[in-house]
Amino acid sequence: MIKAGIVGATGIVGQQFLVALKGHPWIEVAALAASERSAGRSYKEAITDAQSGALRWFCQEPPVEEVMDMPVQNATEMDISGLDVIFSAVESDQARILEPKFAEHKAVISTASAFRYDEDVPILIPGVNSEHAKLLNVQRKARGWRGFITPIPNCTTTGLAITLKPIYESFGIDAVIMTSMQALSGAGRSPGVIGLDILDNIIPFIPGEEEKVQRETQKILGRFAGPCIDPARFNVSCTCCRVNVREGHTESVFVSTQKPCEVSDVAQAMRDYRGSANEADLPSAPKRMIIVQDDPFRPQPRLDRDAEDGMATTVGRIRKDNVLKNGIKYLLVSHNTKMGAAKGAVLVAELLIRDGYIS
Ligand SMILES: NC(=O)c1ccc[n+]([C@@H]2O[C@H](COP(=O)([O-])OP(=O)(O)OC[C@H]3O[C@@H](n4cnc5c(N)ncnc54)[C@H](OP(=O)(O)O)[C@@H]3O)[C@@H](O)[C@H]2O)c1
Repeated sequence: MIKAGIVGATGIVGQQFLVALKGHPWIEVAALAASERSAGRSYKEAITDAQSGALRWFCQEPPVEEVMDMPVQNATEMDISGLDVIFSAVESDQARILEPKFAEHKAVISTASAFRYDEDVPILIPGVNSEHAKLLNVQRKARGWRGFITPIPNCTTTGLAITLKPIYESFGIDAVIMTSMQALSGAGRSPGVIGLDILDNIIPFIPGEEEKVQRETQKILGRFAGPCIDPARFNVSCTCCRVNVREGHTESVFVSTQKPCEVSDVAQAMRDYRGSANEADLPSAPKRMIIVQDDPFRPQPRLDRDAEDGMATTVGRIRKDNVLKNGIKYLLVSHNTKMGAAKGAVLVAELLIRDGYIS
């Protein structure tokens, strides 16, 4: 079994890692770490509110009993000697300090943005750009590390990049315009979004998010070109909003394609999309990367986020757009803390184990 450590194990994404790895056929949880606040406690104590006694477990699945008595280490002093892979689920500021220290010796798969834009760092979505993993060899050599850092995309980029991929392959893309309606869980819980601010409301700005989605989409759909990724050459413009939904990001997407295409062509290309290199056989992979709904009232976050245990992106309302050249528009729902975070990172680990980058 591959031994994994989870850094940021007490947070929303950290908890989703525990759920994603429960009973996993290849990977077992061998160490947990978080901030100084949690260090030295058992996992159960660390997620129990000291004043009220409330168990701050977030996931829909029950708490993972197997780890409740495991000690939580201070991430800055974490013993990584017995580990094969480290899943990092801390904010970017902490990731910037912690992840290179781990990567000197170990494989690091990160949900944080700290290293996503470095030239020698891939942003992997298995099935979409698995061949970008070759960049990890370049990174190891350039940095003199035994391990590496590979981040997954921002949770808002994930569903967008997955659904654009079959359009890009079949028809080419000139431009993308996207407006997101993002779930509350995407903001984490340290401190996250305050209930009174979001109730009866939409918050029209998520600092840094729009720039992340624009850069990451181009990088993910780019081409592995020796020592770096040659980004896809189309422009991406977004507006990212926070809405009063617990989980599941909804995105309204407009695409100007290079070749003209019909709605039925786009729906078929998405339905047929299977990804590359047998990723569908990996333990956490969805059978269908994209589910296309014909019901005009779908996708909805409450009804569609859990498709294929949160690993499929659901698309609906595919229509012609008459404003853009060769315009197509659709909506998507993607689970931000499963495919967009922890289970998506576990899927990356599975790809890298299968292909010999982690052993
Ligand atoms: N939420 C999502 O949908 C989502 C999706 C994709 C990516 N991400 C990314 O995933 C990361 C974690 O997000 P989250 O939503 O899980 O946040 P969160 O719920 O706020 O959890 C933050 C975690 O970081 C730990 N932490 C805080 N300060 C630390 C320090 N100085 N050293 C070590 N650990 C520290 C916390 O531990 P304590 O409990 O000890 O304070 C907690 O475990 C972020 O980079 C975020 O951008 C989130």
